[in-house]
Amino acid sequence: MDNKVIIIGATSGIGRELAILYARNNWLVGATGRRKELLQSLQAEFPENIITECFDVTEGENIESIKNLTQQLGGLDLLVYNSGYGEPSKHLDWQIDERTTKINVNGFAEIVNFIFNYFMVEGKGHIAATSSIAGIRGSSFAPAYSASKAYISTYMEGLYIKATKLKLPIYITDIQPGFVQTSMAKGEGQFWVSPVEKAAQQIYTAINQKKRKAYITKRWWLVAKAMCLMPISIYKKIG
Ligand SMILES: NC(=O)c1ccc[n+]([C@@H]2O[C@H](COP(=O)([O-])OP(=O)(O)OC[C@H]3O[C@@H](n4cnc5c(N)ncnc54)[C@H](OP(=O)(O)O)[C@@H]3O)[C@@H](O)[C@H]2O)c1
Repeated sequence: MDNKVIIIGATSGIGRELAILYARNNWLVGATGRRKELLQSLQAEFPENIITECFDVTEGENIESIKNLTQQLGGLDLLVYNSGYGEPSKHLDWQIDERTTKINVNGFAEIVNFIFNYFMVEGKGHIAATSSIAGIRGSSFAPAYSASKAYISTYMEGLYIKATKLKLPIYITDIQPGFVQTSMAKGEGQFWVSPVEKAAQQIYTAINQKKRKAYITKRWWLVAKAMCLMPISIYKKIG
C-alpha cells in the first residue's frame, strides 16, 4: 500500500463512500469524524486499509490529531477536507451561523493550512476540499453556509496559484457538489439529486485526474455557469 489519504469527515455520506472507494483501491486511509461507532464500523469493514481518529474539528485538537494520523499512516499523499455543517437559518440564528463558520471555515483553514505547509516541506502532495455549488452566490436561506463554501473555494484557488508559483507538484482540487442524497441535503425544490455512490465515484475520478475544480455531478457545471452570469435583479428572486 503506497498511497495514503486522510479524509476529514468520513463517518457518513460522501466522506464515508470516498473512504470505502480509496480502501477498495488499496490506499491506506485515515478516516475521521466525531461519531466513534461509525468510524469503528468503517474500520471493521476494511481492517487492513483503514485507521481512524475520532475528533471534532471545533475542539482545538486538529493539528495534534492530524500529526498522529499522519504518523500512523507513515506519511501522506492526499488530504480531503470534507467535514461540513449547514442548516437553513430562516431567522438568521447565530447558533447556526457560528457553528457553520467553526466547521466549514475555521476547521477547514486550520487543517488545510497545516497540510499545505507539510506538503511544501515534503515537496509534493494533493489537497481536496468539498465546497458546494451553494458557494457561488449568496443564499437568503442559509447565508453562513453559502459564505463558508465560498471561503473554501476562494482559499483553494489561492493555494492552487501558490503551488503553481512555488513550482511544486502540490495539487489542489475544489469539489463543488450540487445535491447529493445524504442527510445534509435539506430543503425544498431539490433537483438532479445524485446517489452518494455516484457522487463519490466522480469525486474519486476528479481527484485522480488532479482536476482543479470538479462539479458533482458533472452536469452541475451548467447551473454553476448560469448562477455566475445571472444578474442580481433575477437572482434575488431565487437566491
Ligand atoms: N449532500 C449535499 O447535497 C451536499 C451538497 C454540497 C456540498 N456538500 C458538502 O459535502 C460534505 C459532506 O456532506 P454529506 O452530504 O456527505 O453529509 P453528512 O453525511 O452529514 O457528512 C458530514 C460529515 O462531516 C462530519 N462533521 C460534521 N461536523 C463535524 C465536526 N464538528 N467535526 C468533525 N467532523 C464533522 C460528519 O462527521 P461526524 O458527524 O461524525 O462528526 C460527517 O462525516 C459537506 O462539507 C457538505 O457541506 C453536500
